Amino acid sequence: MQDLLAALVERAKSELPAISSRPDFESLKASLVGPKGELTGLMKQMGSVAKEDRPAMGKLINDTKTALQALLDDSLARIDAAELAAQLGPAVDPTLPSPDPVPGTRHPLTMVREELNSILKKVGFTVAEGPEVETEYYCFDALNTPATHPARDPQDTFYFPDKANFSNTTKKVENEKYLLRTHTSSVQIRTMLKGEPPIRMVSPGRVYRRDTVDATHSANFHQMEGLYVDNNVTVKDLKALLDYVLKSLLGSDTKVRFRPHYFGYTEPSFEVDLSAKHLPKVNKEWVEIMGCGMVDPAVFDDVGYDSSVWSGYAFGMGIERIAMMMYGIDDIRYFYQNDLRFLRQFA
Ligand code: DAH
Repeated sequence: MQDLLAALVERAKSELPAISSRPDFESLKASLVGPKGELTGLMKQMGSVAKEDRPAMGKLINDTKTALQALLDDSLARIDAAELAAQLGPAVDPTLPSPDPVPGTRHPLTMVREELNSILKKVGFTVAEGPEVETEYYCFDALNTPATHPARDPQDTFYFPDKANFSNTTKKVENEKYLLRTHTSSVQIRTMLKGEPPIRMVSPGRVYRRDTVDATHSANFHQMEGLYVDNNVTVKDLKALLDYVLKSLLGSDTKVRFRPHYFGYTEPSFEVDLSAKHLPKVNKEWVEIMGCGMVDPAVFDDVGYDSSVWSGYAFGMGIERIAMMMYGIDDIRYFYQNDLRFLRQFA
C-alpha cells in the first residue's frame, strides 16, 4: 500500500507537467483524486489493513492527499497563466515607434481653430483660455444678462448641484452656482479682471447647451470669442476686423454684412451674415455666422474699467458652423464620431 501511494505521487509528478489544457487537467485530476480515482480506491483498501498499522497508514494517506493537492494547484496555476498569456498575445514594448505607417491627421475643427488663431495673431490678438466649468457671474451676470434671461433657464443650461465644488474655477459671488459655460464670452470677463486695457484677445474653446442633438445642433460645440478694448474703438474697426478675418479664412469673394440684433453685453449689437457662394454646398445668399457688437458700458463698469475712457468691441463665432461651410459638411455629428473615413478627408 505504501508503495502504491508513493507510485501515485510519482505518476502525478511525471504526468502533470505535460498537461496544457483545462479538460486534460480535469480528467487527470479525476483519475488521481476523484471519487472513482486511484487515491479513493486505495483508501477503500484501509479495511484490509491490520488494526495496529491503521494510524500510520491513515497519516500516509493524508500526506499523499496533501502532496497531490499541491501538485494539482501548481499545475492549475501554470495552465491559468498560459491561458491568460495566450489571450494577451505577444508582449508589447510601448517605447518602440508605432508600426502604423499613417501619421495622425488633424481634426477639421482643430484646423479651423488654428487658422483663425493665426489670422488674428497677425493683427495683434493673443490667445486666452478660460474654464469650461464656469459660474453664473462670469457666464451671465457680469455680461449684463439678468436672472430672468431665457439663456439662464435650466432647460437651456447645464447647472451643477449646489454642493458641487471646483477648486480650480474661482467664484466671484458667494452662493453662485457652477455651470457648464454656454458661450466663450465668460473669458472676456476673466481677461478684463486679470489685466488692464488695451486688450486684444481671442479665446477658442468648448461650450455646452442643453440642445437636442440633430444635424445642426450638438449639446457641446466650439466657439471663438474675441475682445478688443482701447481708446476710441468704433463699429468701423469691428467691421474692418471681421472683413479681414472672414476674407482671409474663406477667400476674398466673401461678403460680410451686419444685421442689428440684441445681446446684453454689447450695444449696439449685430448678427453677422456671410455671402460665400464659392464655398461647397452654400446655396443661400446670406448665412448667419456670428454675433458681435460694441462692449456695453455696463460691462466695463462691472469689471472696474472707466467706461468714459475705454471702448471696445467683442465677437463670438461657432467654429463648427464655419467648418461646415468651408468643407461642405452637412451634419455636425460627423465631427464627434471619430470615423476615420470622415477624418482622413482632411489630411
Ligand atoms: N455669446 C454669443 C452666443 O453664444 C455670441 C456673441 C455675441 C459673442 C455678441 C460676443 C458678442 O462677444 O459681442 O451666441
